[in-house]
Amino acid sequence: MKKDTKKTITDNTVDPDVLTYTVGEDPVLDLSLAKWDCMGTAAHVTMLSEMKLPRAVVTKAEASKVRKTLAKIVKLSENGQFEIRVDDQDVHMAVERMLTEELGDLGKKIHTGRSRNDQVAVDVRLHMKDEILRTSQEVVELVSSLVKFAAKGGKTPLVGRTHLQPAMPSSVEMWATGHAEMILDQLENLKAAYRLADINPLGSAAGYGVPLPLDRSRTSELLGFSRTIHNCFGASMARGECEAALLSALAQIMCVLSRLAEDMIIFSMPEFAYFKLPREYCTGSSIMPQKYNPDVLELVRGKTAQVIGSQTAALTLLHAMPGGYNRDLQDVKLLYMKGLDTTRTTLRILAKLVDGMTFDADKCREAFSPGVFATDVALRKVAEGKPWRDAYHEVRDHLELLESEDCDAVVAAKTHEGTTCGIDLKIYKDRLKEEALFIKKNLKFIDAKCKALLK
Ligand code: ARG
Repeated sequence: MKKDTKKTITDNTVDPDVLTYTVGEDPVLDLSLAKWDCMGTAAHVTMLSEMKLPRAVVTKAEASKVRKTLAKIVKLSENGQFEIRVDDQDVHMAVERMLTEELGDLGKKIHTGRSRNDQVAVDVRLHMKDEILRTSQEVVELVSSLVKFAAKGGKTPLVGRTHLQPAMPSSVEMWATGHAEMILDQLENLKAAYRLADINPLGSAAGYGVPLPLDRSRTSELLGFSRTIHNCFGASMARGECEAALLSALAQIMCVLSRLAEDMIIFSMPEFAYFKLPREYCTGSSIMPQKYNPDVLELVRGKTAQVIGSQTAALTLLHAMPGGYNRDLQDVKLLYMKGLDTTRTTLRILAKLVDGMTFDADKCREAFSPGVFATDVALRKVAEGKPWRDAYHEVRDHLELLESEDCDAVVAAKTHEGTTCGIDLKIYKDRLKEEALFIKKNLKFIDAKCKALLK
């Protein structure tokens, strides 16, 4: 019986089911790699044309033609007109097909000294650098929203909690900037992932190099990488590892965001009513007409589970994987892209929620029970000369004597660094400015490299 088969660039014949199974989501996922695949190819072809050989693989004039066609493909992809067919398998073959359709034999030369293994690895790293910067920008925007909320709330007293129980006087500003700072610090993890992504695997080919005088540092320079992964075998094994590192940073970001979300859910419950969520960001019920539910914030919790899951899945995929390229590496791409998309949408929607959130100063003050002042009372006894443990027991043994106090005054009484009256918003504003500058500088650098490459 004659079996149904399909022709692709790499395989003469392949069972269509096998093709569909192995291609997986690549025709869709790889669309976001199109621009970066073109950049990688432009750098590779330029380098090929500069190789000193008795007979050029690609001449300088040919390389220039290829770059011009690549620039057209980038435009197509920017306009959503770039297509990856199942027969192409992935973006790499789609770009080669298009170059060959346009340039004939010249298109067939571009893969000289290269494998899809180093090609996809370089594409993902270029994509990752860009995405990390854009994610960082969204972190900066959310943190700015929280700092604005802090500025509006100022020293408005808020009950500080431990174990969710009323604990000590806090303020709206302290709550908001506490979360803001924790989120801002996540940029350190993103920068670590950025540094890892900023190393070039191109020129490692299938993972063992090729008998051609490839100038690997030249492509690093053209693409704007900080350096080259020296060992070709190591370069092939590094595929997936930097995606996993980024997923770990994303999982941590989501974890931090889920804690902000949870506080917002609790403090906007009618029983607390310290904060009010913007109505247009809450959803109703099909049966209970009075409902305004914080679905977005609940989904932040849910999506945190997803991103943590993606990180775990990536590490599970990589653990004990034999050296060299293996096709299951392709599945890391799905986890990586999904994780990025989920985290970025979450950052954006949370910024909108924080922007629209209001606080009720009366409700915040009304929540102060006498117990919240207990530690302050004991510390006043210390100021009068009592040893701390005696002062503590005196208060603890007569909790019934605690009275309601002026919560604004207690908030104002704490003045050391970082406490209720020792928070300096300028510190956050300066850091935000510095981070925004770093992001802008790097995006500009990448953009300049791309423009120069396609000339
Ligand atoms: N789409 C593939 C991936 O993401 C490209 C590399 C294919 N390489 C191979 N040796 N089959 O992994």
